[in-house]
Amino acid sequence: MEAMLRSLPLLLLAACGGPPVAPFETTRAEEWRPQLHFSPTSGWLNDPVGLVRFDGVYHLFFQHYPDDTVWGPMHWGHATSADLLHWEEQPIALSPDPALGTVFSGSAIVLEDGLTGVCASRCIALMFTHNGGDSGDQKQSLATSLDGVAFTVHPASPVIANPGIRDFRDPRVYLRDDGRYGALISEGDAVGLWVSDDLLAWTREGGMPIDSDGVVETPDVVHFGDTSTLSTGLAIAVNPGGPAGGSGQGWLDGGPEPSATARSLAWMDHGPDFYAFQAWADPAATEAPGAAPSVGLAWAMNWRYALRTPTEPWRGAMSLPRRLGAAEGQLAQHAIALDALVRGTPVDLASASPRRVEQALESFEGEVYRLRLASGEATHCDLGLRESEDAGTRITWDGDTLSVDRSFSGEVDFDDSFAAVHTAPLSTAGLDLEVVVDTSMLEIFAGDGQVVFTERIFPPYDATGISVSCDAEVDLRIDLLHSIWR
Ligand code: FRU
Repeated sequence: MEAMLRSLPLLLLAACGGPPVAPFETTRAEEWRPQLHFSPTSGWLNDPVGLVRFDGVYHLFFQHYPDDTVWGPMHWGHATSADLLHWEEQPIALSPDPALGTVFSGSAIVLEDGLTGVCASRCIALMFTHNGGDSGDQKQSLATSLDGVAFTVHPASPVIANPGIRDFRDPRVYLRDDGRYGALISEGDAVGLWVSDDLLAWTREGGMPIDSDGVVETPDVVHFGDTSTLSTGLAIAVNPGGPAGGSGQGWLDGGPEPSATARSLAWMDHGPDFYAFQAWADPAATEAPGAAPSVGLAWAMNWRYALRTPTEPWRGAMSLPRRLGAAEGQLAQHAIALDALVRGTPVDLASASPRRVEQALESFEGEVYRLRLASGEATHCDLGLRESEDAGTRITWDGDTLSVDRSFSGEVDFDDSFAAVHTAPLSTAGLDLEVVVDTSMLEIFAGDGQVVFTERIFPPYDATGISVSCDAEVDLRIDLLHSIWR
């Protein structure tokens, strides 16, 4: 694979016919290692947790078992970024405690002026679940850090003891409009609202059952839209009961807090591999007027087969950070800008006939790129990605639906449900598609960000071809991208 990645320039030169491109360089060259997405150097990763921006730095913590590539005693791994594209791994932030237990999912809040009894001056406070330990149950704890690197568990932990609910976890702490602190907590098939004045003493103020087939996990507050029309919703992960089978990520309109009226769950992603979404509480929006105020990401995986995907010496990766906008009043998602990674000469076709598209892609070779397609007058499009003689992943738009078929995407046998077709309604007048292709991951955005699929694939190393076939002229642009790890 390494040889493969390093030989790409020659292939690309042949493909694009343009000037020589800079070598495709990466320090993480194992087979299927994502080159645009965060994954840990080694060990296991699941949920993103504690996402927070502190002193201009984006912090990404993650459920982590450093000693093996399977889920085990949970720690909080830690990475930081200045631009949400390039990540630097930091020392583990939280480790299991013999008395309190292992460290499950949770969230972060910046206490700008400190808080009596919690931290004397400006700090990050983490609120999370301790699992097991002496009590054997799930309860909520606090940790703090003044520098964003070293974290100390607060001696008052747990600050919320288990109230007799087996699945009681994943607190999402936030500042409420009334100036008090709120924590949304998974309570089996419901979300509970707990309220506090000091982050130490908490009272349960309500709850809301979620109509799904599974256990509710990792509630999150999502702000979406633009700065002039901002809405707030509640993001919820459910396992099982997702739209593509296994675990899935949904959201509810109408504010983050439980309400008396029933609200139905809409899917954030129609693919199988998007779970435990969390947004950064304070992204760069205020610095870019009109920009989407919120950016978040998810674990790009499904609990159904998470333990069996064929990667070594790490297992688990995040989705790309996504901007949360709005379209027709609904949550819409777009990949963060990848322009800083563009390299080489793009494939760039305007109003191109089916034959011209075919010719332009005949010798294309790529594993890491962004594709944009505007279908014009077409009513049907078929795309084949990561193609070789005997492998490929197919995206089909027929005017009414968008579907992704990964049945022949490469290694699929590690789980019976992996080789499958995933479908979502998409009846827009035309197809406006963005696909980010990254070694073992596809992220597909259509319908102005309202229909999204995240799909893991494990293609053979020689599956670098692409085909695009629509029934009319289209605009097509493909930008090759640098690795974030170079
Ligand atoms: C979600 C989840 C959380 C839990 C964590 C454990 O994927 O099951 O509910 O806190 O993972 O790793």
